[in-house]
Amino acid sequence: MSKVYIETYGCQMNVADSETVASILKKSGYEITEDMHAADIVLVNTCSVRENAETRVYGRLAVFRQLRKANPDVVVGVLGCMAERVKEELITKQGVNLVAGPDSYRTLPELLAKSSVSGNAIDIELSTEETYAGICPTRLESNGISGFVSITRGCNNFCTYCIVPYTRGRERSRDAKDIITEALDLQERGYKELTLLGQNVNSYAFKTEDGRQKTLDRRQETEDGTPNRRRETGDTRQETWDFPRLLEQVAKEVPSMRIRFTTSHPKDMSDETLRVIARNANICRHIHLPVQSGSNRILKLMNRKYDREWYLNRIRAIREILPDCGITTDVFCGFPSETDEDHQDSLALMKEVRFDFAFMYKYSERPGTYAADHLPDDIAEEVKGARLQEIIKLQGEIGLASNRSDIGKTFDVLAEGSSKKSKVQLYGRNPQNKVIVFPMEDKRPGDIVSVKVTDCTGATLKGLQVSGVGYQVPASRG
Ligand code: SAH
Ligand code: SF4
Ligand code: F3S
Repeated sequence: MSKVYIETYGCQMNVADSETVASILKKSGYEITEDMHAADIVLVNTCSVRENAETRVYGRLAVFRQLRKANPDVVVGVLGCMAERVKEELITKQGVNLVAGPDSYRTLPELLAKSSVSGNAIDIELSTEETYAGICPTRLESNGISGFVSITRGCNNFCTYCIVPYTRGRERSRDAKDIITEALDLQERGYKELTLLGQNVNSYAFKTEDGRQKTLDRRQETEDGTPNRRRETGDTRQETWDFPRLLEQVAKEVPSMRIRFTTSHPKDMSDETLRVIARNANICRHIHLPVQSGSNRILKLMNRKYDREWYLNRIRAIREILPDCGITTDVFCGFPSETDEDHQDSLALMKEVRFDFAFMYKYSERPGTYAADHLPDDIAEEVKGARLQEIIKLQGEIGLASNRSDIGKTFDVLAEGSSKKSKVQLYGRNPQNKVIVFPMEDKRPGDIVSVKVTDCTGATLKGLQVSGVGYQVPASRG
């Protein structure tokens, strides 16, 4: 049996996709291995969002070429966003045998067969329909505690700097029934947390083609597969699902699991979603709301479709409806024509919102985007670097203050594993998505533990277990 090793870069959607790939390949008789050197097939699922994401993958491809030198029978394949963007060059210039874009994973078994006959194979066709319906992902590299469920694929927003709409294609919402089936599957496997994934989860919109009738018909199919005729003249109401409805339904279907979701686009972040979170205790109090810039002029050039005032209004709504909600963001500097004043607007916005955490970047021009074609990448590298340092420094102070303000508070923490630094410490995340390290005592990964915060750094909280009977003396460990 051929063994497949899969390495994953990029966002959580790629992690989820690698699980879909593993499921497809296992069904075709392949075995998944975590040992690259034991593999007959090496697949790397890639990211194109910034140039350095691609540089890392090129580095890995050099390593895989060495692998092929030692064993020419090994097949090396590139999947995901770089496959879609770089295309044939991966074969002609990088010595890769197989290239498959994000919508081509169902054809992987055929592509592998073809590449073993003719040396290489490529399929980078994007689809307006592929949602990998009916494929239940094989959980890889997972801690068995926290899992992902994709709810949409692709993106229609075309922010002018972003490659994702080109590498992932048009936005599609997955069938609500498939999403709930995957959530139930995770629950059955003992998972304690799931994250609903999409580039813009708030724009989730799913309509059954012919409403309830279809759902009933499928269930009522006769044994030979022909639809039950009685139903054909039945109710033809359409069922429509939006994000708040989906989120609430998932929370109710798997009441023992914690629910997270990412990413929320500020333009579509509704009060209704916030109210769903407020009335469902198992939905985590955390919203990742990428702002990108604090300057209205830049936001317009970015085609983000909101302005600073709209964004701040959304933050106010979150604080009002969910007072204990963690708020995190993405922000980047050095977008074409960004002035020092624009940059100051970003810093001022960060000071006003006081994000608990932020992913911070420098603008990286992506070939083929509107910005690459129309807006010169005119901010000098040193200026980009200096601005990024200012952003990082400011966020460092704000993040530390946010962590300090948690000292004395008690949180429910889902333990995810033992701490890297100490085997008698566990780490996990609180509902606000902050990492907390605490003494293991009698608890294990997968437990939800009450932890009182006693100390912190800028990156993590530290705490002690508390319970109804007070602090327990650590059990002795022979
Ligand atoms: N769909 C999400 C973001 C996906 S990409 C959203 O709209 O919020 C993740 C982050 O990478 C973005 O939020 C942005 O901050 C950053 N990013 C995307 N393209 C970039 C580019 N060309 N240069 C620098 N950062 C970029
Ligand atoms: Fe990229 Fe914008 Fe789509 Fe996010 S919403 S993936 S930043 S185009
Ligand atoms: Fe990267 Fe593609 Fe995700 S470009 S961020 S892996 S959608």
